[in-house]
Amino acid sequence: MVSYLRHSLAILVTLVAVHYGFTLRHHQEWKKLILTHHWPATVCEMDHGHCKNPPKYWTLHGLWPDKAQMCNNSWPFDSIQIKDILPEMNQYWPDLLHPNKSQLWKHEWQKHGTCAASLECLNTQLKYFSKGLEIYKQVDLNSVLEKSGIIPSTTYYQMKDIENALIGFYGVLPKIQCLPPHQGETAQTLGQIEICFTKEFQLRNCTESVDLNDPLIDWKAYNDDLHVCDNSTNTLYPPVKER
Ligand SMILES: *[C@@H]1O[C@H](CO)[C@@H](O)[C@H](O)[C@H]1NC(C)=O
Ligand SMILES: *[C@@H]1O[C@H](CO)[C@@H](O)[C@H](O)[C@H]1NC(C)=O
Ligand SMILES: *[C@@H]1O[C@H](CO)[C@@H](O)[C@H](O)[C@H]1NC(C)=O
Ligand SMILES: *[C@@H]1O[C@H](CO)[C@@H](O)[C@H](O)[C@H]1NC(C)=O
Repeated sequence: MVSYLRHSLAILVTLVAVHYGFTLRHHQEWKKLILTHHWPATVCEMDHGHCKNPPKYWTLHGLWPDKAQMCNNSWPFDSIQIKDILPEMNQYWPDLLHPNKSQLWKHEWQKHGTCAASLECLNTQLKYFSKGLEIYKQVDLNSVLEKSGIIPSTTYYQMKDIENALIGFYGVLPKIQCLPPHQGETAQTLGQIEICFTKEFQLRNCTESVDLNDPLIDWKAYNDDLHVCDNSTNTLYPPVKER
């Protein structure tokens, strides 16, 4: 009997410890919001080209608190809440792998939105997705790149040219991710650009941002192969293929 009790107690202590560990991990105080854009042609390449007619502009992937995720399992995504902004969502924040579906939004809400919701200005699904769209338009990455002469091309870019264009315009360090060279190739492929904000929505450096190698952070289906771009490797900013 005593041994049984001791055993139960040990299990209980372990369970509490595990639970507490998870709680800490998932509810850590976060400090910045990461506005993540992805380049549809690269996302589609990672999906083995299954996407049909991907957009020819950078689209939104997400608005992520840096150090928290899955904050509220009892707050399911509900597309009715965002019905008023669906046209813009489909245009600027589309689910590239599942056209006209809401899988991406559901994922983003559950994983990131429920944590961002600790800010009053993001505490509903409508506020969260609307704010994402609003700062996406303010950041206007597509025009900034274009004005700097960084346009999709079959010739290679140097990372410092892309980086300098962004730093020159925004005045803060972005985080730029690439698909590493395929076997037998020498160029990496531009895939994702993160621009970071304080909780007050001021631009800030992305340094010390999420470690993309942390399996908890990225979305497997999209991000599996993306790494911070190597600044000494040629970089392809691939045009969207017509299909
Ligand atoms: C989780 O979401 C539900 C539904 O919106 C809400 O009632 C509840 O207060 C939330 N829990 C926490 C801990 O924020
Ligand atoms: C998605 O919906 C829009 C508007 O309803 C339509 O124009 C477009 O063809 C649809 N795309 C796909 C891939 O079904
Ligand atoms: C952002 O990074 C740049 C370059 O490392 C640095 O000069 C600047 O002070 C940083 N800004 C802030 C607000 O930390
Ligand atoms: C490459 O990028 C890192 C991080 O921004 C920087 O510290 C380093 O100086 C860069 N190297 C070159 C060759 O530009």
